[in-house]
Amino acid sequence: MNSPTAFPANALGLKSLLGTESLKSEQIQILISTALCFKALQQKGQEVPSTLAGKSAVLMFFESSTRTRSSFELAVQKLKGNALVLTKVGSSAEKGETLLDTARNIEAMDPDVLVLRHPSAGSPFVLDKALDLPLINAGDGFHEQPTQALLDLMIVFEKRKKIGGTRVLIVGDIAHSRVARSDIYALKTMGAEVSVCGPPTLLPPKVEKMGVRVFHCLEEAVHGQEVVMMLRIQFERMSSGQTPSLGEYSRFYGMNQKILKLCRPDVLIMHPGPVNRGVELSTEVADSAQSVILDQVANGVLLRMATLHLLLGGEPFSWKEKIQ
Ligand code: CP
Repeated sequence: MNSPTAFPANALGLKSLLGTESLKSEQIQILISTALCFKALQQKGQEVPSTLAGKSAVLMFFESSTRTRSSFELAVQKLKGNALVLTKVGSSAEKGETLLDTARNIEAMDPDVLVLRHPSAGSPFVLDKALDLPLINAGDGFHEQPTQALLDLMIVFEKRKKIGGTRVLIVGDIAHSRVARSDIYALKTMGAEVSVCGPPTLLPPKVEKMGVRVFHCLEEAVHGQEVVMMLRIQFERMSSGQTPSLGEYSRFYGMNQKILKLCRPDVLIMHPGPVNRGVELSTEVADSAQSVILDQVANGVLLRMATLHLLLGGEPFSWKEKIQ
C-alpha cells in the first residue's frame, strides 16, 4: 500500500513509493515513460533534468546490495544531487538504536528523500507513517522491491513493445522473493498473463489468488512463454527443509540449454541478480543472446532516476508510444 497523496504537487500523486501492489496503471506508465525518455536523452548525449540540484538523498541500506544501491547512488548523481549512504555496519544500529530512531535522526538532518533497504518486511511502511520525508522502498524482506519490478516492466515493454497480454513465467523461490511479488502485482495491473513455477515448498500458500497460473514442472511451464524470469533461492529468508539439495533443485528448476531449447526462440531470459550460476541459471544461458540481465541492470539506473525525479516534483516525460 502506498501512502496517501501528502505531496499532491507531484505527477505520481504519491508521497512515497513503497510497493507496486497499489500502483495504478497510469502511475506505472508515467514512471516507465519518464525512464525511457531519460534513456533517449542520454543516448543522444543530451542533459537529463537537474531535479536534485541542491538536494540530498540518504540511502539507508541495512541489507547487502550491489545493483540497487549502486544504481540509486548513480541516479542521484545523474540528477545532480548528493547521495549519502548509511549501512547497518558502522552505524549506531549496531549499538541498538532502533530503525525508527535512526530514521528520525536522519530526517532531523533535513535531507530531501530517503531510500530504504531493510530485512524486515513492512519496515518502509512503518517509517513512511512516522516521517514527512518521501521514501522509496529498495526492498523490504520478502515483501516488495518496487523499482526492480518497474525496471523489469520497462525492459519487457522495450523488447516486446507491449506489457499487456505478454506471457511471463516466474521460476523458483517465489515464496521468499520480494521481486516476484512486486513483479506479479505490476504485471497483473498492466494486463500481462503471469505464471509461476517452482517446488510447492517455495510457492506462497494460495499463490493462485494473485491471479497467476501455477506450474511445478519447468519443461511444461516454459512452452509459449515470451519472458522467463529466473529467481535466486533466498536461503537467508528460509527455514530449514524448504528445498532439496542445490543439485536437485538445479536439475528440476534450473534454466539450462536443454530447457532453453523448449522455449520460444525469441524468449527473454531475465534475472534480478545476483545470479547463482549453475544453480537457477547455467552460465551458457546467463550469457546467451536471449539473456537481458545486464539490460535490466542498465534500466535500473534510469528507472530510479525517474522515480526520484517524479517523487521530488519533476515533470513527467511522455514516451512516443503508449506504455500498455
Ligand atoms: N536485484 C537486486 O535487488 O539486486 P541487489 O540485491 O544487488 O540490489
